[in-house]
Amino acid sequence: MSDTKVYRASTTAPVNIAVVKYWGKRDAKLNLPTNSSLSVTLSQADLRTLTTASCSAAYKDDVLLLNGEPSDLTGARTQACLRELRTRRAALEDKDASLPKLSAMRLLLVSENNFPTAAGLASSAAGFAALVRAIADLYELPSSPTELSLIARQGSGSACRSLFGGYVAWQMGTQADGLDSQAVEVAPASHWPEMRALILVASAAKKGVSSTSGMQQTVATSGLFQQRIADVVPANMKRMEEAVAARDFAAFAEVTMRDSNSFHATCADTYPPIFYMNDVSRAAVRAVEAINAAAGQTVAAYTFDAGPNAVVYYLEENKDTVLGAFYPLLEKLDGWKEGAKGLKSTVQFDETVA
Ligand code: ADP
Ligand code: DP6
Ligand code: CO
Repeated sequence: MSDTKVYRASTTAPVNIAVVKYWGKRDAKLNLPTNSSLSVTLSQADLRTLTTASCSAAYKDDVLLLNGEPSDLTGARTQACLRELRTRRAALEDKDASLPKLSAMRLLLVSENNFPTAAGLASSAAGFAALVRAIADLYELPSSPTELSLIARQGSGSACRSLFGGYVAWQMGTQADGLDSQAVEVAPASHWPEMRALILVASAAKKGVSSTSGMQQTVATSGLFQQRIADVVPANMKRMEEAVAARDFAAFAEVTMRDSNSFHATCADTYPPIFYMNDVSRAAVRAVEAINAAAGQTVAAYTFDAGPNAVVYYLEENKDTVLGAFYPLLEKLDGWKEGAKGLKSTVQFDETVA
């Protein structure tokens, strides 16, 4: 029967890991940031969200199944995404009466992250990018990546960058409506094809303080944060854009590590303090320092999001040096992904950047 017909679309979205971090909102409703940020989109070969969106007149409620569990869809930011997408679909239906009225149907969203959720590996970025694109595909919206990115930003700020590959800046913008707070590609992945990222899972457990709540506490209580957004981040954005343009790994690495340190310093300066890094994270920092000291040049750069897990950027030519140095750390790492053969505990080698 036609009224029980199910319409369906699936998509995947990649993780992006910031090298100049977003941390702070100037408008929590529209998810407008206190500073610009810049990230590298990782290959979907290892870390990705897979989301299937379906709708049917037979569905009774909007439902999100995240990693097999019913998950909250009622949050204001998720609702903002759904509302924008439905409004766009309704406009198409108004123009063409032959289109099925999908905008009036309930949605079933089935999503799976093949990496730890809410553990500081940007699950909200890949998650909302996939959610928005899956629904846009289901609704057959003629939306550009920029338009989808503006919607995904309202779900989770970092998600706006996951609609693009390569090196992506999220320009904070100045407008109150947020229409200029958007992600732009700074350079495609092909600009620097030797770039690699190694993901070290120190803990796959859900973090104690979500990114949304953590940054809110930092904005409210940290003095150091004021200096970060006024001076540190603008300088880091400029240096990072120059480093990427020139493919200058030493400069890229220094800004990446300094910006991660600056971000975690503002977390420590939050009152009460927030600690996302743990002993294994700090051991990874020391390992990177030892690799660079032994090499006599900077060949590896660590960065940590709001969680204990390290992402280490390096160039393909230094693969053996970098990966070899991390083997002694592996026993301390939390296992989460099968298939890392020959390694006692698991480590995610994400060999390519998208
Ligand atoms: P992370 O460091 O992993 O991005 P956050 O605290 O920013 O952690 O966000 C985690 C939240 O993002 C989850 O609790 C969930 O609400 C949401 N999320 C994660 N993955 C998905 C997904 N695939 N689809 C929808 N929402 C998701
Ligand atoms: C440390 O985008 O997860 O990963 O907008 O509240 O969903 P919400 O926060 P989120 O914050 C990401 C913080 C970060 C840095 C970054 O990705 O730029
Ligand atoms: Co997040």
